[in-house]
Amino acid sequence: GPSLRALAARAGVRIGTAVDMTALADDRAYRRTTIRDYNSVTAENVMKWESVEPERGVHNWKPADDLVRFARAHGQVVRGHTLVWHSQLPAWLTSGVDDGSIGRTELRKILRDHITAEVKRYKGKIQQWDVVNEVFEEDGSLRNSIWLRELGPSYIADAFRWAHAADPKAKLFLNDYNVEGVNAKSTAYYELAKRLRAEGVPVQGFGIQGHLAIQYGFPGQVAENLARFGALGMQTAFTEVDVRMILPVDETKQATQASYYRRLLDACLGARSCKSFTVWGFTDKYSWVPGVFEGEGSATPMDETYGRKPAYEALREGLAAG
Ligand code: G3I
Repeated sequence: GPSLRALAARAGVRIGTAVDMTALADDRAYRRTTIRDYNSVTAENVMKWESVEPERGVHNWKPADDLVRFARAHGQVVRGHTLVWHSQLPAWLTSGVDDGSIGRTELRKILRDHITAEVKRYKGKIQQWDVVNEVFEEDGSLRNSIWLRELGPSYIADAFRWAHAADPKAKLFLNDYNVEGVNAKSTAYYELAKRLRAEGVPVQGFGIQGHLAIQYGFPGQVAENLARFGALGMQTAFTEVDVRMILPVDETKQATQASYYRRLLDACLGARSCKSFTVWGFTDKYSWVPGVFEGEGSATPMDETYGRKPAYEALREGLAAG
């Protein structure tokens, strides 16, 4: 039957996946599936700060360059992930702040230089950038990160302005997990986006990661949440969808998982603001889930041997209907 990407093209959306660059180099089935089914790619790790600047002033662009070149060769767009995050920071940066050798003024310049260098390098080649990632706590307060502590809340607006200056055409996104439905955290994003846009800060998109777990149920008011960001004139996107479960797998759990994939996809297809739906890996062979959630897994649309799960068929049917 038709590939996911062929169906997505007809439906007028991008279907994306996170890409593990080691797997892309070493695993032919992985590479073929990436090409066949997806027309958007996101670097799972290689555009993060610890990867692109492992030593201060020493850049390692090669894996990220490889992905951008791969995408171009295969007619795929790229989502850039991610410029400002509290996690996967280079050790030289965190230790320099901890031991006081990097002060606030210098840190702000380091952040500006990082954003400028990375966004400029891929200027014109990134459709959407996750400019800031995971900046709120579950209760809607700003996350107590190195950025908030050292620079104060204005680092968010600064990051968007610097990214926009480096590539005015890239769509600039906020991005987080547990923000699928209407809740304290997604409302904090809504209020932030509204305020920033009123101030003329170039924020154009809201990225909903979509890391679900069947044992926690499906989030409420997803359509309403997308609609309120759309009403601000913003784009929305599902950026890291996966649906994990407590192992072992059984048919009931797989059916629930399939329905959760389908419901997120349908929410995107039903919202004018949403033109991009990305899964955080398409095979369990390389999923991040088992390494982080003990006893959980089977989160992606294909098993370890690229067998299609009901979730894969649900995505096909959803795209075909959309
Ligand atoms: O590259 C090193 C390797 O040199 C070393 O030998 C190995 C030993 O542990 O670690 C490797 O780094 C790992 C890296 O993935 C690359 O494989 C890190 O330990 C590991 O922590 C890291 O995990 C990534 C995680 O972000 C880090 O927080 C996952 O692959 C990645 O899927 C995950 O992605 C995040 C999104 O960026 C943001 N939203 C949540 C999502 C899931 O956590």
